[in-house]
Amino acid sequence: AKEPLRVLVTGAAGQIGYALVPMIARGVMLGPDQPVILLMLDIPPAAEALNGVKMELVDAAFPLLKGVVATTDAVEACTGVNVAVMVGGFPRKEGMERKDVMSKNVSIYKSQASALEKHAAANCKVLVVANPANTNALILKEFAPSIPEKNITCLTRLDHNRALGQISERLNVQVSDVKNVIIWGNHSSTQYPDVNHATVKTPAGEKPVRQLVANDEWLNGEFITTVQQRGAAIIKARKLSSALSAASSACDHIRDWVLGTPEGTWVSMGVYSDGSYNVPAGLVYSFPVTCKNGEWSIVQGLSIDEFSRKKLDLTAQELSEEKALAYSCLS
Ligand code: NAI
Repeated sequence: AKEPLRVLVTGAAGQIGYALVPMIARGVMLGPDQPVILLMLDIPPAAEALNGVKMELVDAAFPLLKGVVATTDAVEACTGVNVAVMVGGFPRKEGMERKDVMSKNVSIYKSQASALEKHAAANCKVLVVANPANTNALILKEFAPSIPEKNITCLTRLDHNRALGQISERLNVQVSDVKNVIIWGNHSSTQYPDVNHATVKTPAGEKPVRQLVANDEWLNGEFITTVQQRGAAIIKARKLSSALSAASSACDHIRDWVLGTPEGTWVSMGVYSDGSYNVPAGLVYSFPVTCKNGEWSIVQGLSIDEFSRKKLDLTAQELSEEKALAYSCLS
C-alpha cells in the first residue's frame, strides 16, 4: 500500500475549501489508490467553521483519508506537506483600493511562503488559487527560495476548462472530445483564451476547432469575452463565486501535474516564465504545458498570429504592473 501524502488546503473553511476537501479525500486529486492526510488552515475567526468541516470529513468515512488536521497555526499546517493548495486570501471588499488588497495578500503569501520554506517536505508542489493568483504565486516563490521555482504554480485550469466547455456547447460535442485550447497570461479578465491549436475528435478524425465552428467573429469575440468574464457571470447568478468548478479544476491541475497529461494533450498552468513565446521571464504566466514524471514543460513552437500576439502582450503587461504593485507593498 502507498504511504499517505500530506495535502495542505489553506482557506479550508471557505466556499472552495468546502467543495475541495471532499474531492481530495475521495481520491479525485491524487488518484483512487493514494491515501491522503488533509491539513486544513484558516484564520481564527473561521476556526469554529473549520472544525465543523473536520467533523464532516470524519463523518463521511472516506476510506483514503488517513488523518485530518484543522488548525490556525501555519507551522502545524505546513509541516511535511507534499502538496499545498493555497485557497486562503484576502478578498476585495467594496470601496477598497487595489493596492490595499494587494498589500494584504502580499503579507499573507510572504508569511505562508516562509512556513512552507521551513516546514514542507522537500519537493513540495504548490498550487495558488487565491486571487490575485499569479502574483500571489510570485510572492510565494520569492519568499520560499529553497522550493524549486518549477514547483510553484497558479490555477488557470478553471479558465481552460471553461474554454473547453464553451466549445463543446457551441458544437454540441462531448467536452472530452475537445482538447488543446490555451489560456495565456493572467487569471483575470485580460487572460487570452486561444483556440488556434484546439481540435475536436470526430468520426472523421481530429478536426481544428476553427474549421468546425467556422465563425471567426464568434471565436474572436464572444467566445473570448465569455471565458474572460465567466467568473463574474457566476457571481451574478449565484451571488457567490465559482466554488465547485474551481475545486474540480484544482484537482485536475494537480492530478495532471503529478500523474501526467495524456499523449498529444496539453493543459494550461500558471508557471514561472522562462521567456518562452517572448513572455517576460520572471512573471507567473499561464502557458500550455504537458506533464510527465511530476514535471511540467511549456509546449514549444506553436505559431502565434498577430491577433494573438497583441493579446499575449496585453496580459503580460497587466502582470508586470501587478508585480510592480506587489513589490511596492513589500518596501
Ligand atoms: P471564501 O471567502 O469563501 O474563502 C476564503 C477563506 O480563506 C476564508 O475561510 C478565509 O477565512 C480564509 N483566509 C483568509 N485569510 C487567510 C489566511 N491568511 N490564511 C488562511 N486562510 C485565510 O472564498 P472562496 O470563494 O473560497 O475563494 C477563495 C479564493 O479563490 C479567492 O481569492 C477567490 O478570488 C479565488 N478564486 C480563484 C479562482 C481561480 O481560478 N484561480 C476561481 C475562483 C476563486
